[in-house]
Amino acid sequence: MKELILVTGGTGYIGSHTAVELINEGYEVVIVDNLANSTVDSLDGIEKITGVRPAFEQFDLCDKPNVEAFFRKYSRLKAIIHFAAYKAVGESVDQPLKYYRNNLVSLMNLLECMEQFKVPLMVFSSSCTVYGQPKELPVTENAPILPAESPYGNTKQICEEILRDSGCSMPALQVISLRYFNPIGAHPSALIGELPQGIPDNLVPFVTQTAAGLRGELKIFGDDYPTPDGSAVRDYINVTDLAKAHVTAIRRLLDQKNETGLEFFNLGTGHGTSVLEVVKTFEKVTGVPVHYKVVGRRAGDIVAVWADTTKANQVLGWKAGTSLEDTLLSAWNWEKKLRGIQ
Ligand code: NAD
Ligand code: WQD
Repeated sequence: MKELILVTGGTGYIGSHTAVELINEGYEVVIVDNLANSTVDSLDGIEKITGVRPAFEQFDLCDKPNVEAFFRKYSRLKAIIHFAAYKAVGESVDQPLKYYRNNLVSLMNLLECMEQFKVPLMVFSSSCTVYGQPKELPVTENAPILPAESPYGNTKQICEEILRDSGCSMPALQVISLRYFNPIGAHPSALIGELPQGIPDNLVPFVTQTAAGLRGELKIFGDDYPTPDGSAVRDYINVTDLAKAHVTAIRRLLDQKNETGLEFFNLGTGHGTSVLEVVKTFEKVTGVPVHYKVVGRRAGDIVAVWADTTKANQVLGWKAGTSLEDTLLSAWNWEKKLRGIQ
């Protein structure tokens, strides 16, 4: 019988891509999502890609009775990948309590049920935001955790602390916390991808929407950083590559290969790319011009960050393989599909 994995937030951007990779690798998937930031169309996409429609339960993970009922119903559950969270940095500054409540309570409800129903394995979605602007680049998992720049970032730090403390009181608990750098792109089929609400905060959705004519021009936040071309540098990781790392992490937990009850891995490419390089590469691979203008720096932005992926490469046995070119093309194909552009 196939091993059953719960993917919370599985109709969302990274969750839907991970559901595809899990199914492709022979796992059975059940998705929990309240559709706060996604639609059920993702299920159609997952089904078209894999030939399998995962089980879907729509409820809010902050609602404890629903979480308990779920664990009772799915007693075959082997492990959890916990994506469900709010993630908009700017909104978290305006509405911090919304973020603290959702991101912390959902995790605590899951942990309590994991103990009660004896499902002790979790892969957790963390973020490179926990490192702030690291002193040394590339950044390793041992870099200090710096004070968070936003309530959103703080929820990731607090969640990691909750996981660490819970491990002390629940020795059976085994968690892998994956710290993503900047996930971008869409499935090569263009059947699933990112659905930003309103005006995108993130660079690549803004680039694709500008190219599609939805936005007049892209604002490049700063060209006076101490970087080769003056624009800020990030580690842009293909979303399918990222999804595959979750499958590897789940296998590691199921096979009891993890060395400690709480492990951390950086998930990036290991290479930094500047904002201007992203825009120029997008224009080159798509042939579509992106109107842009350079404006002042965005508050709270760091100068440069990219991952040291040695630990993920060697210990997890995972490496990002997709080029920036192919990834940006996948983002464009997804945008064209959303907008009905030929
Ligand atoms: P997303 O918004 O596309 O997916 C998250 C999903 O969780 C959504 O479908 C949403 O409806 C659901 N959800 C939120 N709160 C819920 C709740 N209380 N109960 C049930 N469902 C709930 O976001 P994503 O980009 O796929 O991110 C997934 C995870 O990865 C998040 O934890 C995010 O913080 C983390 N992460 C994302 C990025 C990024 O740039 N996308 C980077 C680092 C970390
Ligand atoms: C990338 C670069 C911008 C938009 C955020 C979160 C982080 C993580 C990933 C979840 C920066 C520049 C952007 C635009 C621009 N998410 N930019 N014009 O800020 O690295 O990280 O997403 O955990 O926590 O903070 O990503 O895509 O917003 O920006 O010039 O319209 O693009 O200044 O240098 P960021 P981003």
